[in-house]
Amino acid sequence: MYKSLIRPLLFLVSPERVHHMVMGLLKFAHSIPGVPLLMSSIYKVDDPKLRRTVFGIDFPNPVGLAAGFDKDARFFKELGDLGFGFIEIGTLTPKGQPGNDKPRMFRLPADKGLINRMGFNNQGVDHAIQRLRRRKPGLIIGGNIGKNKVTSNEQALEDYIITFNKLYDHVDYFVVNVSSPNTPNLRDLQDKEPLSRIILALMKERTEKSVHKPILLKIAPDLTEGQLDDIVELSLQTGLDGLIATNTTISREKLRTPKGRIEEIGAGGLSGAPVRDRSTEVVRYLFHKLGNEVPIIAVGGIFTAEDALQKLNAGAKLVQVYTGFIYEGPGMIKRINKGILKKGING
Ligand code: FNR
Repeated sequence: MYKSLIRPLLFLVSPERVHHMVMGLLKFAHSIPGVPLLMSSIYKVDDPKLRRTVFGIDFPNPVGLAAGFDKDARFFKELGDLGFGFIEIGTLTPKGQPGNDKPRMFRLPADKGLINRMGFNNQGVDHAIQRLRRRKPGLIIGGNIGKNKVTSNEQALEDYIITFNKLYDHVDYFVVNVSSPNTPNLRDLQDKEPLSRIILALMKERTEKSVHKPILLKIAPDLTEGQLDDIVELSLQTGLDGLIATNTTISREKLRTPKGRIEEIGAGGLSGAPVRDRSTEVVRYLFHKLGNEVPIIAVGGIFTAEDALQKLNAGAKLVQVYTGFIYEGPGMIKRINKGILKKGING
């Protein structure tokens, strides 16, 4: 029903507007007594075979919601009832910021893709914390952290530390995001030296805490083999808890959407089906080098159970979705989990 009836209507409206409309509706529906239970019974798959423990956290199933969808931690309760095994909020920055000018999110239906240049629009970490205080136990929430646009790369470390410390008691794991293409020069922080400085500083902060929470790093699909080798080395040297591969790509290769349209859209990160194979390649490369030493969460172009299984069989321990969720609708999470149960994971 979603693809034949609902999606054609939603796709008539601008993607960012639809996002706010649909999530507002979901929140309203979820506030009606009985609806949360109904949603859970329709969408959740509860099977011990789906459970897994990764970086010390017990996940009810391996399919999570990727960062950027619930930037301000507004909808984690509702999204949890759609069957996600975990929700990643953010990217959050110390101060709120509006992000780039609109329009900044574009559909590429011929490619089952999206291009976005949101630019870390968020209300800032303090607002998210207010909402996270109301969270009930049981749902796993990751906190994806970044730097404000006005903060220089030289000062970036301070931004990561502020958000990390403020958020520490309110999320289950952390993701250091240095891989968004939409904050000028952010990806320069993926270089070994500035990156290890950030990771080691956060780890030092963590030693002061009473509870140990995993710190993960999210990387771009556009890294060269040499840069991936640096990430491998850094992961092992610092004792990083996990990697997330991958963010959106700046590549525009092999698209069906006419070149003129792509040029008209302009800068931004491309997600969905066009990034699928490259993301899997990155996961496979990292797993080949790291084995089970540093667990990988795979994200990029997952629409079906087969897509998820490809990533899991390439070595990922968990997967996340974003663009597929927009194209396939909420039934997708259940279909993926059922497919994983049916076909199992190799090795
Ligand atoms: C994203 N993504 C993203 N990632 C991140 O770490 N922080 C963020 O704030 C955002 N914001 C964001 C906004 C929009 C509109 C999109 C489409 C994506 C990237 C996302 O989490 C994911 O890594 C990529 O989109 C690849 O996965 P999919 O979309 O192909 O499943």
